[in-house]
Amino acid sequence: MKIKLLTAGVLVLGFAGLLWISPLANSQTSAKSMGLSFTVADTSFNWEKMDHAARLSYMKQVVMPAMKAEFIKFNSEEFELMNCKTCHGEGAENHTFKMPNPKIWKLPRSKEGWAKADTSYLRFMKETVKPRMASLLGMKPFDMKTMTGFGCGNCHTDQE
Ligand code: HEC
Ligand code: HEC
Repeated sequence: MKIKLLTAGVLVLGFAGLLWISPLANSQTSAKSMGLSFTVADTSFNWEKMDHAARLSYMKQVVMPAMKAEFIKFNSEEFELMNCKTCHGEGAENHTFKMPNPKIWKLPRSKEGWAKADTSYLRFMKETVKPRMASLLGMKPFDMKTMTGFGCGNCHTDQE
């Protein structure tokens, strides 16, 4: 299995991002700065309604630290240098942050393809990355019945 460590993507964030005042309750922001876990139970949180700058700031302040901790717990060597580019790829360089990212592993379209996938990754993705990310974005995890919600396809593209 080849894992590219994406070290080059040093992202220059606008200063505005740092100064962005969260629409979320202050208590949550300060809970986070004290190193406590962040919840999005606050109903004022609405990812859909956030503009690009607000999303960028939320990614930086909340999503990145939370997800990096999970990836490091899973594999500290591979993800020690995890950054925005690990998920966003080129989108972190051209600042669109467009997802899904066609440069990471592509979701297979066949049983055989799925059988070849690394099982420890699959478990981590299914049991940790998907639900954790969904919750950070205030979305429901993808549900096969309704075909809606946050899933693998929000980050990974399909194989051609
Ligand atoms: C664990 C993976 C992951 C990491 C790490 C990550 N992001 Fe994201 N980011 C996402 C996903 C998934 C979305 C799209 C959510 C959706 O489907 O609406 C997103 C969306 C965004 C958007 C919104 C784009 C738009 O306007 O719709 C911005 C801006 C962004 N990320 C910035 C960042 C920055 C800056 C960092 C690093 C500090 C970062 N992200 C790290 C997964 C990640
Ligand atoms: C929040 C974004 C995100 C979501 C959601 C997500 N993944 Fe991933 N996935 C990643 C990132 C980032 C990597 C590591 C990419 C790298 O290091 O090149 C990865 C790696 C993988 C790998 C390892 C590929 C390899 O190099 O062998 C597999 C397999 C995988 N994901 C499957 C899935 C499946 C299946 C789902 C849905 C259950 C899923 N992923 C959901 C972001 C995501």
